[in-house]
Amino acid sequence: MDFQLVKLDAGQAACTQADALLALAPARFKAAAGDALSELIASAIKGEHFKTEAGATLSMYLPPRIAAPRVLLAGIGDGSAAQVRKAIDALGAELRRLPSKNLLVCVAGEQEPENWVGPATRALAQACYSYQATKSKPQPVKLGKIVLGTAHEAAAKPVFARAKAAAAGVRLAREWANRPANHATPAMLAEAARALAGKKGPLTCQVLGPKEVAKLGMGAFQAVAQGSAQELRLIVLRYEGAPKSQAPVALIGKGITFDAGGISLKPGPEMDEMKFDMSGAASVLGVFHTLGQLRPKINVVGLIAACENLPDGRAVKPGDVVTSMSGQTIEILNTDAEGRLILCDALTYARRFKPRAMVDIATLTGACMIALGGVRSGLFSADDALARALEQAGDAADDPCWRMPLDEDYAQGLKSNFADIANVAGRPAGSVTAAKFLQKFVGDTPWAHLDIAGTAWLGGAAKGATGRPVALLLEYLLGQAGAPASQRKRRA
Ligand code: BES
Ligand code: MN
Ligand code: ZN
Repeated sequence: MDFQLVKLDAGQAACTQADALLALAPARFKAAAGDALSELIASAIKGEHFKTEAGATLSMYLPPRIAAPRVLLAGIGDGSAAQVRKAIDALGAELRRLPSKNLLVCVAGEQEPENWVGPATRALAQACYSYQATKSKPQPVKLGKIVLGTAHEAAAKPVFARAKAAAAGVRLAREWANRPANHATPAMLAEAARALAGKKGPLTCQVLGPKEVAKLGMGAFQAVAQGSAQELRLIVLRYEGAPKSQAPVALIGKGITFDAGGISLKPGPEMDEMKFDMSGAASVLGVFHTLGQLRPKINVVGLIAACENLPDGRAVKPGDVVTSMSGQTIEILNTDAEGRLILCDALTYARRFKPRAMVDIATLTGACMIALGGVRSGLFSADDALARALEQAGDAADDPCWRMPLDEDYAQGLKSNFADIANVAGRPAGSVTAAKFLQKFVGDTPWAHLDIAGTAWLGGAAKGATGRPVALLLEYLLGQAGAPASQRKRRA
């Protein structure tokens, strides 16, 4: 999708040639005399065909005095990011079905503030994505170009550039998360990561295979992968936009390309959705795609631990004890709690980069989905400043999370008679005990864990990846680019 920003007010939008025109109408909309679009909206409101509340829409063909043949109206309520998203979500199916090649978007009424541009760009990109990779007769969305018209073009420009690049990252994350496990193997994810890294420039990629991972002593990661014919990959992406002296932020993505549960086999219904168990990894790919476009002055390390979790004659068994890279031994009581096993070794590896913060992103527990549903991702961190920064980033990017507890008492159930730690506790507070497990591997490095089990994909008729939490992570990282240098120093 090609996005453009032009200087244009609503009056000019009415007489601008376009295949389709989308006018967003805020609750404070007042018709300006003489402007065809405003008059159209005013009369539609008067005739009770249209409302300015978010979610209300009206679709028209060849309305008078408007240059575009197809006109869509959408109420955006108070104009907040969430309301703009709601408005565009309501038009989603219609936008995807439009026969039009290009769409002009504006806000109705005079002197509109420019803060709709970011949310609208993100939501339009989201709405116009349609998965095609494994269809024999691809039917891509016709709409190829979206032009946003605002009277405040200069002010909107930086927001727009950021939103456009973020939308591309979200799209890449959705695309990889959506691909079925046989079209998104660990090796294919590694190729996707390699493709992001250029021959020169600030983005580089290194891929480790089974031999290197064994040499590193990643016994927990290896244990998960050993039941599958697909080789594991440890993907190391580096974005260096700041001097080497500046400590990086490390992102660590869970990349289980399919989670059958292993010997602790999952039940059949909806097992296909476990192809999405690499959504954390996909979000890291998405973030790096955007970093490559925006080139902010920060350093970021992206680690992806990728493998399948399958039952097999060679698979790890309940009761097996493995030695993690940290040296801690783990009794694997449930082979379906595999995410924490691959992440614990990836976290240990991440500490080598002396990051000033590390954030893991994982579809870790069904319990988190039960606790928070699809609205907020679970956030776990013992570091108040890091937690607050991520919470604020989530709110600002309309990709929210909610902080969960990490009291030491929650770690009680992880005790083992046969190893240093067990990989599962009981059923209560399952998302918290999973986070407590990970915490045993972070040492004194500031760390946060995002459990995206409920937010990474939608089930049912709208089944598909959401691209979350790419927007949250980018908001956080780009905020760091402006943070005082004292907070960015390399840790001793
Ligand atoms: N990938 C799953 C978590 C998951 C399940 C995410 C359903 C989204 C929907 C994870 O590997 C898993 O199987 N977790 C277990 C942990 C349990 C065995 C302690 C779970 O949540 O049931
Ligand atoms: Mn599992
Ligand atoms: Zn899993």
